[in-house]
Amino acid sequence: MINESMSKIVLDKLDTYRQDSEAGDTHVLRQQSPDVLATKMKLAQWIRDGGLVPDNIQNFLAPYLEHSQHMHHPGFIGHQVAVPHEGAAIADMIHGVINNPMAVYEMGPTASVIERVVVNWMLEKCGWFTGAIDDFSQREHNGAGVLTHGGSLANLTAVLAARAHAAPDAWQNGTPDNLAIIAPAATHYSLARAVSIAGFGQNAIRTAPVNALEVLQPEKLEQTFLRAQDEGQKVFMVSANACTTATGLYDPIDEVAEFCEAHDLWLHVDGAHGGSALLSHKERHLMKGISRADSLTWDAHKMMRTSALCAAILFKDQKSMAGTFHQNASYIFYGGDEEIGFDVGPYAVECTKSALGAKLFWVLAMEGEKAMGAFVDKQYADTRKFYELINAQDDFTCPYKPEANILCFKYDGVEGNAAQLALREKILARGNFYITTAEINGIRYLRLSVMNPLTTLATIEALLTEIRLCASTSAG
Ligand SMILES: Cc1ncc(COP(=O)(O)O)c(C=O)c1O
Repeated sequence: MINESMSKIVLDKLDTYRQDSEAGDTHVLRQQSPDVLATKMKLAQWIRDGGLVPDNIQNFLAPYLEHSQHMHHPGFIGHQVAVPHEGAAIADMIHGVINNPMAVYEMGPTASVIERVVVNWMLEKCGWFTGAIDDFSQREHNGAGVLTHGGSLANLTAVLAARAHAAPDAWQNGTPDNLAIIAPAATHYSLARAVSIAGFGQNAIRTAPVNALEVLQPEKLEQTFLRAQDEGQKVFMVSANACTTATGLYDPIDEVAEFCEAHDLWLHVDGAHGGSALLSHKERHLMKGISRADSLTWDAHKMMRTSALCAAILFKDQKSMAGTFHQNASYIFYGGDEEIGFDVGPYAVECTKSALGAKLFWVLAMEGEKAMGAFVDKQYADTRKFYELINAQDDFTCPYKPEANILCFKYDGVEGNAAQLALREKILARGNFYITTAEINGIRYLRLSVMNPLTTLATIEALLTEIRLCASTSAG
């Protein structure tokens, strides 16, 4: 049983934390070394002696919150992680109390049903589900999916499903050594990692042809495919990005699908970040062709405002999901694996799983799907405005017009890649903004992920002033 006054105090402090962050009355991040933080929070002492009670909770909570990353602050423009919606926080809290992990239906019946309905809703957005999303009859023409603890696990599941499709006996006999995957070099590292985990080895990745902005060039895929064939490899899968982590630019899914259909290849789309364009009438065109793909990774904890983590791996054909894993575990699995039931354990890497769908459900239930689309519209449109502002400055360069809410630019008042990195360090040290960097074609840029709806043109103007100030002060 939760101690009521303890949880009330924490909720109260969190509310103040959120309000202060949103008002910009805090630092975004007050970086300290790990040993300083461990001392400030008195971690060893609490662990050894216990004794955390309502009267002293502030001794721990104050430094813990003060030195956290303040994602609600408008100056948080860093990584692609959602500023969590209140609904997701409530879902996290409920899960924290009732703890219904759900490898098997009976361990979390309500959470399992929510996951299925939310997955059906996501499938519907891809054109992979028709009918009522709460109709559970296993109609063959509908797709299937499972929620995972993150896009990285979703990508791993996609690689394993594609492998099962191309080499059905790989599960028993091991991964054939001649299979290859075509993917752009800018693909999120989790895909390359999945390739090695699945036993292909990195040599199985054939780098997809890309343009100067690292966007896949479908018209040149044939060359890559034939070269792999000449070298004794059999390409079975192409992975496209929607969008790429570094730039936020989308690969042309429809054209890639054309190529994959012509060669009978599995098309995986990594839409961990940009899949949410499917919710927006204005931006949906960026996902054109998604219904022709075989699998899609789509994170809710990026652009659907849930706390980390809540991701989905979705399959056009439900048989693809059913064939991914083959496990016997008499203590937990009772059925065969040819028909998808309400136990998610057989289809996910994880056994014990959080009530992931509940987070997304709560956000949807509070906002409605139209508002979710409007959120994507706003973030994408704001990012284009920020681009216009930055690109109009004499001392800044943007390498491309953003398609999503990720924007790269560099300050021209300093020279070279190391100088952009050093600039970011200075900006972080001052604590007013949190931004990241990325390399495109060997050139280092400062990078913004415009996740926070409170980040405005005024925020970006202040950021540019901050950058100039940082550049004018010597290092150290
Ligand atoms: C395109 C893409 N794919 C996959 C991932 C990994 O997702 P996660 O961090 O949820 O594991 C990311 C994370 O930023 C990403 O941008």
